[in-house]
Amino acid sequence: MEKMEFPKDFLWGVATASYQIEGFPLADGAGQSIWHRFSHTPNTTYKGDTGDVACDHYHHYKEDVAMMKELGVKAYRFSIAWPRVFPNGKGKINLKGIDFYDRLVDELMNAGIEPFVTLYHWDLPAALQDEGGWMNRDVANWFADYADYVFQKLGDRVKHWITLNEPWVTAFMGHMLGIHAPGMKDVYAAFKVVHNQLRAHSKAVDAFRAENLDGKIGITLSNRSQSPVSQNEADLMAAQIAHEQINYPLFLNPIFKGEYPKHLLVVARDYFPAGYEHDMDDIKKSIDFVGINYYSGSLVKSDPKATFGIRTLDRGLEKTDMGWEIYPQGLYEILTGVQDTYNPKEVFITENGAAFKDSVITGEVHDQKRIGYLKAHFKEAHKALMDGVKLKGYFVWSLMDNYEWAEGYSKRFGIVYIDYKTQKRTIKDSAKWYSNIILKNAID
Ligand code: FCB
Repeated sequence: MEKMEFPKDFLWGVATASYQIEGFPLADGAGQSIWHRFSHTPNTTYKGDTGDVACDHYHHYKEDVAMMKELGVKAYRFSIAWPRVFPNGKGKINLKGIDFYDRLVDELMNAGIEPFVTLYHWDLPAALQDEGGWMNRDVANWFADYADYVFQKLGDRVKHWITLNEPWVTAFMGHMLGIHAPGMKDVYAAFKVVHNQLRAHSKAVDAFRAENLDGKIGITLSNRSQSPVSQNEADLMAAQIAHEQINYPLFLNPIFKGEYPKHLLVVARDYFPAGYEHDMDDIKKSIDFVGINYYSGSLVKSDPKATFGIRTLDRGLEKTDMGWEIYPQGLYEILTGVQDTYNPKEVFITENGAAFKDSVITGEVHDQKRIGYLKAHFKEAHKALMDGVKLKGYFVWSLMDNYEWAEGYSKRFGIVYIDYKTQKRTIKDSAKWYSNIILKNAID
């Protein structure tokens, strides 16, 4: 088979998130986050696992950056824990908190690795939750003030900013399904949270533009391709509504067009907060890039009794350890869909990867399945590039095994293995393979 080359300046990266890797979330004056509280609440996470220690990246960051350099990684996407910087979410600043990220960014710059900073990857300061968190309209200002401070502190070196990571997950896993922090089960709250996250994103973009920094800002969205089980009108519509509800349209339609997706509004209009229409002009605002996260696809059937009329069927495809079907062509569908619908200036795959059961055998981890998964998805990304998607980079989730939220430490997504007892890092075969792809800038 012929070699598939990537553009010369293609940014091959790896991604992580603060609460999943750092550990010691209360160190040096940091405040509690909603994930700290949630994971410390009985019966919320696998075996009661918490992010108290995780990969102890807070103390091992130099070693971790050196490891990335060794692998030849060109970019690193990480997130900032808001409650490290503002322990109460607003007001008093904790200098030791921002100092950690300042040192991390310096370390990356010295290693020649491009930092991509996510401002919010789910660890909301718990003090803000006490005031309603994402359900309180004031959160838009709290977030913009926090973001602005970080822009001022790191904006001389950081050139890529992501406002929010997967706002769908915050809204629906956190407020409708109760699986993530803050653990609520209220569909009205979930739609309020969608809307307030969009308002917060928009105000952070304003703050960024006002700082006049040299850099780019975007948002990262979760996606699962939604294929209709048949060509019946009802199944086609169910797949369309699923796509609008679960994927990028819920957020990009407001950002690029100033309106929520139309088929979704037919089934969900009543859930949106009263008067939401008045915010849409503010939400519509130019961003510099779109971040796409993609892991899996779904087969959809119409079912009037199910939520939003959507039922998901098992297609019988091979699954990862998360129980997610492996469906690489869905990545192509999502990427081309974004480009065709909104024509963003740039697109990054900000997360893609897979959990499998790994084990260390005489100092090595032979994770052939992960290599197969990544290779299949790289090919789809390449095809999308050839077909005009302005894809500029690809971040593998994740640099290392970490705290997989409600699944605790039971799922391993890393290309580096973590021994949680000793904090020893072991380079998996997938990392060696990835390193070689980066070097060649091509797949065969
Ligand atoms: C995404 C999250 C990320 C990680 C992966 C597996 O939804 O953004 O933190 O948990 O899934």
